[in-house]
Amino acid sequence: MPSVITRSKRHFTPDNFLLKIESFSLLSKSGLEYNSDIFEAGGHKWRLSLYPKGIKKNIVNGHISLYLANTDTGVLPLGWEVNASFKLFVFDQIRDEYLTVQEVFVHERSVKRQCLSFIEEPYNNTLTWKIERFSTLDEEYYYSQEFIVGDSKWKLKVHPKGDSIVEKRAISVYLWLCDCLPTEQNVFAEYKLRIRDQIKGKHKEKRAEDWFPSSDGWGYPEFLLLKDLNNASKGFLVNDTNSHSFCAKAFDKAHEEWNEEKKKICVTFIEKDGEEKVINVPIGMSILEAALEHDVDIEGACEGSCACSTCHVIVQDMEYYNKLEDPTDEENDMLDLAFGLTEKSRLGCQLIAEHELDGIRLALPSAT
Ligand code: FES
Repeated sequence: MPSVITRSKRHFTPDNFLLKIESFSLLSKSGLEYNSDIFEAGGHKWRLSLYPKGIKKNIVNGHISLYLANTDTGVLPLGWEVNASFKLFVFDQIRDEYLTVQEVFVHERSVKRQCLSFIEEPYNNTLTWKIERFSTLDEEYYYSQEFIVGDSKWKLKVHPKGDSIVEKRAISVYLWLCDCLPTEQNVFAEYKLRIRDQIKGKHKEKRAEDWFPSSDGWGYPEFLLLKDLNNASKGFLVNDTNSHSFCAKAFDKAHEEWNEEKKKICVTFIEKDGEEKVINVPIGMSILEAALEHDVDIEGACEGSCACSTCHVIVQDMEYYNKLEDPTDEENDMLDLAFGLTEKSRLGCQLIAEHELDGIRLALPSAT
């Protein structure tokens, strides 16, 4: 990197990556580091790292810190070196110009644009989940119903007898993001999980701040010891019912905006054992190919030539099923031979990823 930093001003937009931050004051208040999506320039992958309050190891008071980081160092040979000449810009919204502090060395035509927005005290931000007949629960874990807070769908996950880390010692509670996000996108949440003391109001409560990746969760394996949960005087279980709640304080979502065209869609496969696998499928790729590439348990015996029914998938939502092209006669003939045929059955090799299928959920039949 150059040893001398120069500053200048210009009116035209940066060439490689734009990051817009809405509600910067909330981000700043949180003091969190923010890492942008990855973007490409000069044949390398990069990201911006922003420290709204400055980075502590550099003793710079009253400044934000902004870094450019190379993210594909893992594939570079031993002793690698990348010489980059780059500029970082901060947009002056009053004068409509960019303060320039240095630019990634190759000019590219398409600019990746990303927007970071915060919601403080989102509307309808509390979910209460009452679990009745608690002592009879015999599954490893349970999910609450999904609920929407701050543009995202969430659910709670409870392991009544603890997950594998704290088995039979404590109850485990997690907050789960249900949204299917493109790779490298995350949702930030500042939230509180609670098991209510239904007698004295001395709830067991934990607060946290986390970045949630696509369809993933954060929480506490050891949320509350089972001996405390089962202690009748503590009020966590009354009439064999306990009550969990989730309360969100702030959310942030990073999303691409403007005219940047998405090149992949998000597809969820529900495997035979109920496990969900979320994958990003390039536009134009068949669902069968994408499934095989990501080790989804699907067969595809005729390799996509529409001569078997071993790539049978069941579209979960009629809304998505109606967006699909009608099956051809050949596909219908093969579907007639499929095990467990439903009104929303299709052949995975005949389904091609298109923009309007973003978010589609496909279940695999129990046999083919
Ligand atoms: S792989 Fe045989 S019909 Fe799809």
